[in-house]
Amino acid sequence: MTNKYMYFIANWKMFGNLGTLNSVKKVIKFLKTFKKSKKIKIIYCPPNTLINLMSEKFLKTRIEVGAQNCHESMSYAPLTGSVNPSMLRSVGAKYVIIGHSENRQSGETDKLINLKVKAAIKVGLKVIFCIGETLSQKRKKITKQILSRQIKLGLNKVQRTKNIIIAYEPVWSIGTGVIPKSSELLKTIDFIKDKVRNNKVLYGGSVNPKNIRELKLIRNIDGFLIGGASQEAKKFIDIIKKTYN
Ligand code: PGA
Repeated sequence: MTNKYMYFIANWKMFGNLGTLNSVKKVIKFLKTFKKSKKIKIIYCPPNTLINLMSEKFLKTRIEVGAQNCHESMSYAPLTGSVNPSMLRSVGAKYVIIGHSENRQSGETDKLINLKVKAAIKVGLKVIFCIGETLSQKRKKITKQILSRQIKLGLNKVQRTKNIIIAYEPVWSIGTGVIPKSSELLKTIDFIKDKVRNNKVLYGGSVNPKNIRELKLIRNIDGFLIGGASQEAKKFIDIIKKTYN
């Protein structure tokens, strides 16, 4: 059983409607009786449309809410379709995911990611900063270089780095059911921790109720960023329970 402070972050991506929101009630109920002494952080990152509603639902619970991305501008601006970090804060988000590979793949550069991180931190959001190598980068054995570059450029001149949580998400593991070998993951997380020093480092990519037993044994992981399995209350609760049992 772990005694560490563990994060369980639900990344709902472009899923979730008012119906899915009902499943969250089960998680709230479960947490009411679950090991009160445990240092546990549960953060739901739904689509922006549900942030306000969810943050109201989570008042007086141990759950917090985050967004999945934001615009890099801190001020209001004529930018159709965009949402800045202060707007997210004003509806109850405490966190924001930045640098997710799905957004990197659709064109977000390290430079843009850096601007987003700075803007989010400045308005008081905590940042879940995602990094990870693609399959071809892994095959070329350049994972370390890729991660170093993403950290160096993405966090360049960022103040208040204590408000950054790193999520290591190998791109080849996201949504594929494949996870890295434990020995490899241990080494990669150590490598990242060495670069960032005091930040929490989470693992993300196909985390589910089956592989959590293996993942929780990796001593340097501070929690998980969970996509698919976080949309079903039962799976999400199972992951949490098994981490502590
Ligand atoms: P997955 O997604 O758990 O569905 O692989 C993780 C993520 O993209 O954050």
